[in-house]
Amino acid sequence: MEMLLLSSDVSIIPATSEDIIDLMDIERRCFKIGDRFNYRQFWYLINKGTGIFRLISFAYLFRGYFYIGSVNTRSPRIYSLAIDPSHQGLGMAHYAMLWIECFCLQNGFHSIRLEVRIDNKKAIKFYQKHGFKKYDRKDDYYADGCDAILMKKDLQCPKMDS
Ligand SMILES: CC(C)(COP(=O)(O)OP(=O)(O)OC[C@H]1O[C@@H](n2cnc3c(N)ncnc32)[C@H](O)[C@@H]1OP(=O)(O)O)[C@@H](O)C(=O)NCCC(=O)NCCS
Repeated sequence: MEMLLLSSDVSIIPATSEDIIDLMDIERRCFKIGDRFNYRQFWYLINKGTGIFRLISFAYLFRGYFYIGSVNTRSPRIYSLAIDPSHQGLGMAHYAMLWIECFCLQNGFHSIRLEVRIDNKKAIKFYQKHGFKKYDRKDDYYADGCDAILMKKDLQCPKMDS
C-alpha cells in the first residue's frame, strides 16, 4: 500500500475484553511465540492493569495497540507497541508515538523508556527515528535468549512560536 496516513485517519481508543481475540491475532503476526501476550495477560492489562492500554485504529477497525506501564514511576515504559503487518509503514505507529508523548507530557513525565530485541532492527530504527537513545543492554532477556536493548527518550514541551 503506497500511501501515508493523515492524523485524522488514525484514532487511539481504549480497549475492552471484546477486543482480545483480535489482539491475539495481531500478536501472533507480530511477535515470536515466547514474546507474545496470551489471553489472560491481555485480559489483565486491559481490566486490571495500572497502565494505559490503547488500540490504534484506522477506518474504524483497529490495526494495532500499545501498552504503557510503570505510570506510577517518574519514567513510564512502553511495554508493547505493535501494528498488524498489513498496515505497517503507513505512519500508524508514528501517530501512536505522538499520542504517547503528549500523554506523558500532559501527565508530568519527562522521559519514556522501553526494551526492544537486539535483532528487531525495524523497531530499533523506528524508535531511533523518534528520538529514543540506547542506554543499556540486558543479556538473555527474551524467552529464546535474545538480548534486549534499553532505550530512553527525554521529553520536552514543544516551543510555541511568538
Ligand atoms: C515497529 C513498528 C511498531 C512500526 O510500526 P509502523 O506503523 O510500521 O511504523 P510507521 O509507519 O509509523 O513508521 C514506519 C516508517 O514510515 C514513516 N512514516 C510513515 N508515515 C509517516 C507520517 N505520516 N509521518 C512521518 N513518518 C511516517 C516513518 O517515519 C518510518 O519511516 P522509515 O521507513 O524510514 O523508518 C512495526 O514495525 C511493528 O508493529 N513491528 C512488530 C512488532 C514490534 O516489533 N514492536 C516493537 C516491539 S518493542
